[in-house]
Amino acid sequence: MFETGQLIIIKDYRLDFDYGALAALSKSTESIADPDLRRKLKKLTAPNFFKGTAPKESRGKLVFPDQVRQAIYDTMCHGDREIFDRAARALRSSHDEAMRIFEICFPGYDPFRFIPSVRLTRTLFENLHWDNHSIDADFHQARIFANLDSRPRIWSISLRFTDWVRKHYREHGLERFAGKDPNLMLDYIAGSVLGGTKNTWMDSEPRHRVAFDPGEVWLGESRLISHQIYYGEAAMVYMWFVNVGSMANPDNRFNEQVESLHREMRAEAPKAELTSV
Ligand SMILES: [Fe+2]
Repeated sequence: MFETGQLIIIKDYRLDFDYGALAALSKSTESIADPDLRRKLKKLTAPNFFKGTAPKESRGKLVFPDQVRQAIYDTMCHGDREIFDRAARALRSSHDEAMRIFEICFPGYDPFRFIPSVRLTRTLFENLHWDNHSIDADFHQARIFANLDSRPRIWSISLRFTDWVRKHYREHGLERFAGKDPNLMLDYIAGSVLGGTKNTWMDSEPRHRVAFDPGEVWLGESRLISHQIYYGEAAMVYMWFVNVGSMANPDNRFNEQVESLHREMRAEAPKAELTSV
């Protein structure tokens, strides 16, 4: 079910999370001059809070050997040990729970890359899109999301990528993307057709709205599931890149679903259309 691009919500389950721990953090990274460091704080890796060499105490201040951890402590936690420790405890517990859920839901998956990120800043009014990792490598993606805020996280979802492509294939001449990096077609549809980040909220795709409760956990392959964050505060977004050989059905991997759709559409194409090309 997951591999075919369904959004899966874990029914009647909520993370037991200390929401106040993240509410106490400063979300502004403006005071950090180094743009690379600022970027790392914006797309924060959750274990930075609780993994790494322990800090040393020097003249009443904590000194971390790692500059990202130091910036988290100084800027986001206002140099306050209690705020840091509380956030670290909360994020460690949600991390452990995400790992447990991954093992339960995907016991056979063989991940080769793991990106455990936490979003702490507010997200509003995204345009409808499918995620694009800008890499055409043939891999499968497992994602686990959780709402780490005491307010709902509101998404709209619409058609799965392959369903959208099938529906609009001839209209947009999508056969020109056959055999190419699927991200090119994804970019064209999300940007030129749906408006991308420049021309937002102009599409008339069907919508299903979902309000995820505080602590609610959901799973999905976000290159297949269209989504649009309408409103959201803190969230956990854990991503595993998985070797295709370990999938329940490797034919369900994103690249292959796209290519098989091209084959299906080619087979269905009227003869006249084929000879005129
Ligand atoms: Fe996205």
